[in-house]
Amino acid sequence: MKRSRVVISGLLGVLALGGTAAGLRLWSIAHVRRSTGRQELGFVTCHHCHFVRLEQLPWAKARPHHRSPAGLAVSPDGKKLYIALDDVNEVVEADGATLQVTRNLKLDGGPFGLALDARGERLYVTCRDTDRVAAIDTREFKAVDSIAVGAGPVAIAFCATKAGDRLVAANSVSDNISVLEASPLKEIARPQAGREPCSVAVTADGSVAFVANRLAVAENPLTAPESELTVLDPASGRILTRSSFASAHLAEGIAAVPGRAWALAPVVKVRNLVPITQVANGWVMSSGLALSDSQGRITQVPLDEAHDYFADPSGIAVDSAGRRAYIASGGGDAISVLDLDRLAHWLAKADETARREAIEDLSLSAEYMLARIPTGRNPRQLALSPDGQILFVSERLQDSVLVVDTTRLKPVGRIPLGDGGGSDPIRRGERVFTKAAYTFERQFSCRSCHPDGHVDGLSYDFDGDGLGDNLLDNRSLQGVAATEPFKWTGKNPSLEIQCGPRFARVLMRTDPIPPEDLNDLTAFLKALPSPRWERQRHQPLTPAQERGRQIFFATETPAGTPIPRARQCHTCHRPPLFTNRLLSSVGTKGPRDSADLFDTPHLLGIAHSAPYLHDGRARTLEELWTTYQTNDLHGVSSHMTKRQLNDLVEYLKTL
Ligand code: HEC
Ligand code: HEC
Ligand code: HEC
Repeated sequence: MKRSRVVISGLLGVLALGGTAAGLRLWSIAHVRRSTGRQELGFVTCHHCHFVRLEQLPWAKARPHHRSPAGLAVSPDGKKLYIALDDVNEVVEADGATLQVTRNLKLDGGPFGLALDARGERLYVTCRDTDRVAAIDTREFKAVDSIAVGAGPVAIAFCATKAGDRLVAANSVSDNISVLEASPLKEIARPQAGREPCSVAVTADGSVAFVANRLAVAENPLTAPESELTVLDPASGRILTRSSFASAHLAEGIAAVPGRAWALAPVVKVRNLVPITQVANGWVMSSGLALSDSQGRITQVPLDEAHDYFADPSGIAVDSAGRRAYIASGGGDAISVLDLDRLAHWLAKADETARREAIEDLSLSAEYMLARIPTGRNPRQLALSPDGQILFVSERLQDSVLVVDTTRLKPVGRIPLGDGGGSDPIRRGERVFTKAAYTFERQFSCRSCHPDGHVDGLSYDFDGDGLGDNLLDNRSLQGVAATEPFKWTGKNPSLEIQCGPRFARVLMRTDPIPPEDLNDLTAFLKALPSPRWERQRHQPLTPAQERGRQIFFATETPAGTPIPRARQCHTCHRPPLFTNRLLSSVGTKGPRDSADLFDTPHLLGIAHSAPYLHDGRARTLEELWTTYQTNDLHGVSSHMTKRQLNDLVEYLKTL
């Protein structure tokens, strides 16, 4: 071949390649414009809308499981301890003297809460993931009965009533309470609770059951949130009263106090509307104890001290004489011991004003705080032996149960359950997530605002601008992998940056999280699954959900008018994550917002992350297209009938 021919064919080849590349480029630009419905694109890659497969996401992949203790129950003779291990689907029995596990039982569905009957013959277990309560015969140590209850049952309590033996289970996902006959298992009532009922206690005579609800609800983002205390009659399941904890939430434990007609629930006092820059003044959140007295009056008292905080209060146990309360601080790795006689003494002389202002006075805790006992990692649930001598503490992120002598107020042993999971970055990341030591004076942890990696349902004032300006609704971290950019403004391109130095400066007011801990933290965040994904994706849609799906993917209105590409729901909320990861303006800028472009949120698990929109103004999904509809800028909805809107919402709830 002549040299010139080689050159010419080479040139032709380059030209052809160049032409193809240019053609591809033009096609790509046109394609992306068509797919986004807009001309101005900014930075968009093919990855914004393609190549995402849920099966490939970190949270959909197999991960190590750990023998982390959840619920605890002590036998009436004080000799045996039962422990639920939700992550490995087991319930185990341990010997209180040898501190060894003696028997194991496989029980599917994430066994979580435990309750024993009066004689210790039946152990009742809530299976959080399969929405059931199971009964275990403790002699044979095998499951003998099981029943479907509401969704996501966590805590359960047993009581003998005049009408027979009862169980009261808190269904954290369906926001209701299952009241059951204990033998055989039979549901007799399912009254509505507050938001995320999470703990249950009954009085010794079985006449009253208290259910504490984890999340608070606010009228609107600018009003103080309140969480509900639901009080019911376990014999009939009838609601007696609904009272509320003002500006307090995350009640993850509750106890009825014998002899005093009190119910005690550890809570987090929130001041979400105080700018977060006030962390240094201790004005953002603190731990408290809500006390409901015999007249149903509620007084909140502090659990913290002026310069030392005991973040994320969780389980509570009270002795049978009603003299002492023990409260786990999940973020502070400690147990607080309270003298209830001294608390009663303070309460008796406190007037209305003193009671109302008590929670703000961190020096008050000295009046009734007896001791703080250090524990292993992330103490959550507590159980006392019937004689009150021994306190068992579940060390959730260390796979062990600590045994505390309550006379000496000292740990005396530990029941090992697993290896602690220290070699698993996800487990280590969860420790970072739940630990308050990264915050100034140990005031709070990530979990304080993102319980279970989810939302707390509140809007926060994060920027140092005007009070109440640019409020930001909390965002769920469940299913957050691959949905970058983060934040409502979409300003953070990665989880490392989201949780990095600026975050430490603004939110936690201390040194940044060390790099190796930050790596573990992001591994944990990426492994947080979208709720109930595995189950839901195999379930067929109901007719209403299917009609809603067609509306979501519609390209024209029922009357045949085309919906512009840019306003079709699925253009922005593109499956499978239901986001195209781009910023959009959908007419939701409020009078106190400085921007009108917001990150297109993913919609996985959307049913459970109310309130909605960047500032949390919409309390329900319906409100997005009724109270806060935006003249068809946020999807085209003005033609929709009430029924069509309901169908759309029904579909959204399946995501
Ligand atoms: C903003 C979202 C978005 C972006 C960015 C995007 N696409 Fe698409 N793409 C779509 C949509 C919507 C479809 C229609 C089919 C579907 O729903 O999967 C599609 C379809 C396609 C198809 C199938 C042929 C067709 O036109 O139906 C190809 C090939 C494709 N895209 C390639 C690309 C490439 C290459 C890039 C990067 C240059 C890209 N896409 C970027 C949204 C996008
Ligand atoms: C005081 C409450 C609070 C604390 C503490 C907190 N967060 Fe958040 N988090 C929020 C709020 C509110 C948002 C929404 C803020 C925004 O969009 O700008 C958010 C957003 C996020 C996002 C972005 C989610 C998304 O989809 O864009 C991530 C990731 C996150 N938080 C992780 C963490 C981690 C990790 C910690 C602990 C290091 C933490 N958060 C501590 C309240 C909190
Ligand atoms: C142009 C892009 C776009 C279209 C089209 C669109 N959305 Fe959105 N969607 C957004 C953005 C951006 C937000 C966040 C707005 C805000 O927070 O103020 C949002 C918020 C939402 C939310 C609330 C999420 C949360 O966590 O608070 C839901 C639910 C939702 N959209 C569903 C839909 C449905 C259903 C449709 C069709 C009727 C639709 N969207 C059409 C971009 C879009």
